[in-house]
Amino acid sequence: MLVRGLLIASSLGGVLATPLVQSIDVRAPQAVQAADPQSCPGYTAKNVKQTTSSFSADLVLAGKACNIYGPDLTQLKLTVTYEEASRIHVKIADPEGKRYQVPESVLPRPSSSSCDSGSASILFKYNVSPFSFSIVRKGTNEVLFDTSSYPLIFEPQYLRIKTSLPANANIYGLGEHSDPFRLPHGITRTMWARDSYGIPTNTNLYSSQPIYIEHRPTGSHGVFLLNSNGMDVKLSDEGSKSALEYSIIGGILDFYFLSGPNPADVAKQYAKIVGLPAEMPYWGFGFHQCRYGYKDYVDVATVIGKYEAAGIPLETMWTDIDYMDQRKVFTNDASYFPTDKVREIVDRLHKKNQHYILMVDPAVAYQPNTNYIAYDEGIKADIFMKRPNGTTFKGVVWPGVTVFPDWFHPKASSYWTNQFLRFFNKDTGIDIDGAWIDMNDPSSFCPFPCDDPFGSARNQSLPPTRPSPPPAPGTPVPPFKRGVAAPNATLDFLNPPYHINNTNGAISDRTAYTDIIHANGLVEYDTHNVYGHMMSVETRKAMLARRPGKRPIVITRSTYSGTGHHTGKWLGDNLSQWDQYRSSIAGMLGMASIAQIPMVGSDVCGFGGNTTETLCARWATLGAFYPFYRNHNQDGSPSQEFYLWASVTQAAKNAIDIRYRLLDYIYTAFHQAHVDGTPVLNPLFYKYPKDSNTFGLDLQFFYGDSILVSPVTEENSTSVSIYLPKDIFYDFLTYAPVQGQGANVKLTNVGFTAIPVHIRGGAVLPLRASSAMTTFALRQQDFNIVIAPSADGKATGSLYIDDGESIAPSATTEIKFGFTDGKLTASGKFNYDAKVKVGSVTFLNVGSAKSVLVNGKAVDAGKVKYNAATKSLVATTAISLKSGFTVELK
Ligand code: GLC
Repeated sequence: MLVRGLLIASSLGGVLATPLVQSIDVRAPQAVQAADPQSCPGYTAKNVKQTTSSFSADLVLAGKACNIYGPDLTQLKLTVTYEEASRIHVKIADPEGKRYQVPESVLPRPSSSSCDSGSASILFKYNVSPFSFSIVRKGTNEVLFDTSSYPLIFEPQYLRIKTSLPANANIYGLGEHSDPFRLPHGITRTMWARDSYGIPTNTNLYSSQPIYIEHRPTGSHGVFLLNSNGMDVKLSDEGSKSALEYSIIGGILDFYFLSGPNPADVAKQYAKIVGLPAEMPYWGFGFHQCRYGYKDYVDVATVIGKYEAAGIPLETMWTDIDYMDQRKVFTNDASYFPTDKVREIVDRLHKKNQHYILMVDPAVAYQPNTNYIAYDEGIKADIFMKRPNGTTFKGVVWPGVTVFPDWFHPKASSYWTNQFLRFFNKDTGIDIDGAWIDMNDPSSFCPFPCDDPFGSARNQSLPPTRPSPPPAPGTPVPPFKRGVAAPNATLDFLNPPYHINNTNGAISDRTAYTDIIHANGLVEYDTHNVYGHMMSVETRKAMLARRPGKRPIVITRSTYSGTGHHTGKWLGDNLSQWDQYRSSIAGMLGMASIAQIPMVGSDVCGFGGNTTETLCARWATLGAFYPFYRNHNQDGSPSQEFYLWASVTQAAKNAIDIRYRLLDYIYTAFHQAHVDGTPVLNPLFYKYPKDSNTFGLDLQFFYGDSILVSPVTEENSTSVSIYLPKDIFYDFLTYAPVQGQGANVKLTNVGFTAIPVHIRGGAVLPLRASSAMTTFALRQQDFNIVIAPSADGKATGSLYIDDGESIAPSATTEIKFGFTDGKLTASGKFNYDAKVKVGSVTFLNVGSAKSVLVNGKAVDAGKVKYNAATKSLVATTAISLKSGFTVELK
């Protein structure tokens, strides 16, 4: 195919002044043989202007252009702002500011602020010629980022910037990936959102998160490159040091340097730029069941009933695209999933305080003249993405040939909200409590070049073959038992000269064509990586319109920086394999602890392939410590609902019991994250930043601040060697103290229904006294406050309670717990009436039997029980949560 004579707006900077003529043989994308980047001249800093809080300069090409992948820009503009004591913003762009930058509408920038460099904790330093810069930690003089060994290259479709790093630098982030949490040196992390079935290691996956944390025993810092173009980020060893090289195919260099120095500080500083994580409804932390391949409403209702029969708490039932008519979004199949039957299921779920979530894909079936409302209304509003010649772009997704909403179109938002209001209508349609959004990388099944989407769709055996006839009419629902910087440059949006390491090859392969021109003139080439993010924002808005005032729960597959401010994410199509069970922890930490998308989890028991009883049992227990806990399975794979095996049933019950008792603890952690970005999950080094043994650990993690989760990681094994930092820990189930030695400890006899969980000394945990079948029932349980003191006998904690669902709750309870010298003090705000009490207080590591005073008054001796074997003491209490209180050991 030859694309010619394109008259369009440009990606690489606003609207082109001159018509852009492309002549591209898209069938044969060949990498241009490039010169050595090291031979490039770099730039010279001129017209330097400096204030105490900012710095600017013109960067002028310092010698003969090297034109590696296009003409070097001859002049650039550098601006540096000390925005906060912990943050420096370094921007290198075309002087006219016409090149593409991530629009404010996609990622609003932090309100512009500036700070005196005198009070900053990191400093910007530079060399004039060739221009280079470094970021230096004040106080220690450590160089955190340093481009002086590598010339800066800035061409229309190739930007190269490279920093030296210390040998063996500990780098985390640059997701989405399924590689080790601490990135191995030699790896290239490619940012190009891709439908990545099987989530192979060393490939680009669904999301682009161009932020990394580098950790040193002296401190952590963060580097966020606000650029949504395709890029390769290569971590290499070079002689006695390492290096990190960005090769980017567009946009500008827009760096934010974050000083830390604690890893959690970096996370908080990052959240200040991209937005604090969205608060989730309380029920969102319940257990979710899903699968692709529930063939009809009978199937769905049967599964709900079987969970109930098995006594496994099921909070939310999901239905995949199976419910749709011919897999068309905003429709349901009249025979397999008739509205009245699905409504009956939803009503029953709601009566039992359970919930229902449905899948929505972005792609709308291309079905003119068939009265398909989602298509007709999209055409009427003209909101589908278009090729440069003005034709609507067509790809192939589940329903066959499809078109795709252009989120940049001014009417896309109202179109999307209207589809939600119409189809997910409580009175006339199918009521949903949350939305699951998928295929928004965006995915198309048509390989590039997709000359014949209709042919490609035919090969897809569409419309879907239904596995069996629909239920006979009237079958009842079974009962539940309950810009242009380089003039004259020809920009190639389909086959750019520098080929990022996209696993699919051509950047338009199996996705929306990268020459699509959005309604606002931006080109998909630049914005591809934010498609899923924008759909997340719009879906949150639609859910808010659907359920005003209530916190939406939206779970997306593709994300970009800042998506956590709007939605949660699941880690896509993993496989039922032990290696993927293990790597799910690193994947989850990458999203929760670095990218600030804490509502995250992998498909429990694995999506593709065939799970096994032991894998599913282990996964049921590990998944109970994912913030987002959902069993999901692929069409055609054997069923894997927890109740199918006795061991898995028991494993799930045991783990959900712990999860639910801890639910207010993690809910409080989410609230804190929403307030200031404190990470909800913590890799071990976040809590032990000076202990280098922790830096590479990604098979254990802290759930919240103080719950150490150490799953068994090997198939058929009932033991696991875990690392315990030099600190005191307590077994979650027995309360027995365990002194960590900064060494590995082998735990044996860990049955398939168990998972090792420890409390880190120094924590006050507000547990619910017992678990329940729903989170609604859980909220009626009293609290059991567990005090797990540190070696010096102190502990702290907090508890946040509200109605669990309002965006702006009218009343909240916010308690701070402090424990010192044997006395627990609870103080704070007590405005939300939780209608429960503190029914017991448990003290750990108590040397001998003691009496207990509540608010100075002795508790009956009969209500105080001391266990000498585990050194724990429990006092039965009835303390009101309407005001502060003390509980004291005497
Ligand atoms: C995608 C999703 C998967 C879903 C399937 C069918 O592969 O990642 O979770 O089940 O589509 O909708």
